[in-house]
Amino acid sequence: MRIAVVGTGYVGLVTGTCFAETGNTVTCVDIDKAKVEKLQGGTITIYEPGLDHLFLRNLKENRLHFTTSLAEGIKGAQIIFLALPTPPGEDGSADLSYVLGVSKELGKILDAYAVIVDKSTVPVGTADKVRAAIAANAKVEFDVVSNPEFLREGVAVDDFMKPDRVVIGSSSERANALMQQLYAPFVRQGNPIIYMDERSAELTKYAANAFLATKITFMNEIARMCERLDADVDMVRKGIGGDERIGKRFLFPGIGYGGSCFPKDVQALSRSADEVGYEFKILRSVMDVNQEQKTYLVPKVKRFFGGSLRGKKIALWGLSFKPNTDDIREAPALYIIDALLAEGAVVTAFDPEAMPGVKRMVGDKITFAENQYDALEGAEALVIATEWGAFRTPDFDLMETKLAQKVIFDGRNVFEGPLMASLGYYYESIGRRP
Ligand code: UGA
Repeated sequence: MRIAVVGTGYVGLVTGTCFAETGNTVTCVDIDKAKVEKLQGGTITIYEPGLDHLFLRNLKENRLHFTTSLAEGIKGAQIIFLALPTPPGEDGSADLSYVLGVSKELGKILDAYAVIVDKSTVPVGTADKVRAAIAANAKVEFDVVSNPEFLREGVAVDDFMKPDRVVIGSSSERANALMQQLYAPFVRQGNPIIYMDERSAELTKYAANAFLATKITFMNEIARMCERLDADVDMVRKGIGGDERIGKRFLFPGIGYGGSCFPKDVQALSRSADEVGYEFKILRSVMDVNQEQKTYLVPKVKRFFGGSLRGKKIALWGLSFKPNTDDIREAPALYIIDALLAEGAVVTAFDPEAMPGVKRMVGDKITFAENQYDALEGAEALVIATEWGAFRTPDFDLMETKLAQKVIFDGRNVFEGPLMASLGYYYESIGRRP
C-alpha cells in the first residue's frame, strides 16, 4: 500500500518506519526542512532503541521517503496518517491548530479517495472537526478514522510490531477494510483489531493512559501506607499482582509517573470532564498525589541530614522520566533537582542519555558527570531517580571509593534492602523498610 505520515515526531517516525517494514511504501511529511534533510540523509532524529536499524534498511530499500511538501507526500496515498503535535494550550486543553491546519490543506489537494487517520492523542470529537476541515474544500470522497497509538517510549518498535490490540474508530466499511489490510501483518498472532466509532476510539486512548496513571498512583499510596504500617510494598505488589483481575504490570511504586503522555492525558481528560459538567474526582487525586510523589524523597534526605541540606553534596543517578529514553518531559528528576537546590544542596548528576537536555534547562546550576561513578565523587548521599539497567548491578567496590558517605535514597527500588545493609549502606527506598 501507499501510505503518507504527516509529522515526523516520535509517533510519526515509528509509525512510518514500521509500516515500511511490512512492505508498504511510506512517505513522511514534515515542515521542518532541516529535519527532513537529516532524515533523507539517513540520520535518525529521535532516540529509540531498535528503530535506527529499521529506519536505515527501509530508507536504503526505497520504501521510506521524506519530504517537506504535503502535496508530494500524499500523492497516491491510500491512507494518510496525521501524527502531529497537540500541545496543551494555556488552559490545559489540547491545541488542535496543527491537526486542523493540515486537514484544511488536505481538503484542497486530495485528488482521489483516501482515509485520513488520526494517530495523535486528541480530544473526543476531533475526528468530526477533522472531517469538517477537510470537507470545507474537498472535491473527492474521503473517510476519517481515529486510530490511537499505545506505544511506550523505549520499546516502541516492539509495541508497534506486536500490539496487544489495534483500535480502529470509524463509521465507514470502506475505511475499515483498508485499515484491516494495513494492520493484518501486525495481528497475525491473533491479537484483536477492535472496531468502534470514532468518539469511543478517541476516549479509549485517554481512558487507557488515565487508568495506568491511576494504577501507578494507587501503588504509590499503598507504598506510603507500607512505610507507616511497617509492611513491604514489594510483597504487597506481588501478592495483589497474582490476581489476574489486577495484573502484575504497572504496579511498581516509585517517584511518580512522568513523560509526555500520562501527565498531559490525565490533565486533558480531567479538563474534558469539567467541560461537560462532570467532576472526575479520582483524576484530581491522581494528579495531586503524583505531583507530591516526584519530590517524595527530598524530605527524607533532609531528615537524614538533620533538617538542612545546605552545602550537602548530593549525587543524582538518572534524569530521564524512565530508562531507555532521553526524554525529560515531566521527569521527576527535574523536580528533585529544583527541590534540592532550593534547600541549598550541591548536585552532581549522571544519566546515560538525558544530560544534554537537562543541561539546556538548568545550565550550570548543577554539575554533570562523565559516568555514574564520577557523579559520586565526594557525595554525601546518592539519590536514584531513574532505573537505568547500568544502575542495577553497579561496581559497589568502586562506589565505595568515591562516596564520602554510604547513603542511598532510591526512588525506583533498584536495590534490595538486605544487600545494601550487608554492604554497610544506609538505604531508603519507596514503601520498603529502611
Ligand atoms: C505511555 C503508555 O504506557 C503507552 O501505552 C502510551 O502509548 C504512551 O504513554 C502514549 O500515550 O503515547 P510512556 O509515556 O512511553 O507510555 O511510558 P510508560 O512506560 O508507560 O511509563 C510512564 C511513567 O510511569 C514513567 O515515568 C514510569 O517510570 C512510570 N511507571 C510505570 C511507574 O512509576 N510504575 C510502573 O509500574 C510503570
